Amino acid sequence: MDLLEVLARRRSVRSYLPDPPDEGDLNLILEAASTAPSAGDLQAYVCVVVRRRESLRRLADACYGQDFVAEAPAALVFLADPDRSARRYGSRGRNLYCVQDATIAASYAQLAAEDLGYGSCWVGAFDDRSVRGAVGAGRELIPIAVIPLGRPAEIPEVTPRRPIPEVFRLEDVGTPFPHRPVRRDLLRPAARF
Ligand SMILES: Cc1cc2nc3c(=O)[nH]c(=O)nc-3n(C[C@H](O)[C@H](O)[C@H](O)COP(=O)(O)O)c2cc1C
Repeated sequence: MDLLEVLARRRSVRSYLPDPPDEGDLNLILEAASTAPSAGDLQAYVCVVVRRRESLRRLADACYGQDFVAEAPAALVFLADPDRSARRYGSRGRNLYCVQDATIAASYAQLAAEDLGYGSCWVGAFDDRSVRGAVGAGRELIPIAVIPLGRPAEIPEVTPRRPIPEVFRLEDVGTPFPHRPVRRDLLRPAARF
């Protein structure tokens, strides 16, 4: 599928069929995530594939009872590795690059999952200590995202987006980008905040 089509189709799916992800697909999702750019090619993150029911339950509890995490047949847990990035980049690596490395890789995983017909959801509301406990991570790793995934049991409505000129600017932050729509399928309904 065309990348822009994947972007247009992706939405947060919070209800899954019980079928476990195909082994080949799971491996492909990890390969796709590992293509993500990272500072100095360090890939300062770890991703844990979680499929055991009891671990998924612990993850859902760590996510303050977001039960759909326990109902997914699998989840990916991305954790930043600050020490790995700090060894080369000092405090910028520790505080920023490792988080960016993990975040970009997690996004790639989510998009690859979409491309392969899986629904997923970025879950960021969790207790760090409990997520670490669920995946056997030490304090040196920072949980960044829990991504439950599985074949979607429902396709949610798209959520709105802020108008492009409100978010994107031209040359300086004071000038809205004079956006001309090109692919209408990429444009979400305008947010009314
Ligand atoms: C940093 C971050 C944290 C999020 N945390 C949660 C979460 O804890 N639980 C949840 O159900 N969705 C969570 N989401 C998903 C957002 O609610 C969702 O991406 C947003 O509403 C846009 O909808 P869409 O993904 O369908 O485009 C999170 C997304 C991001 C990027």
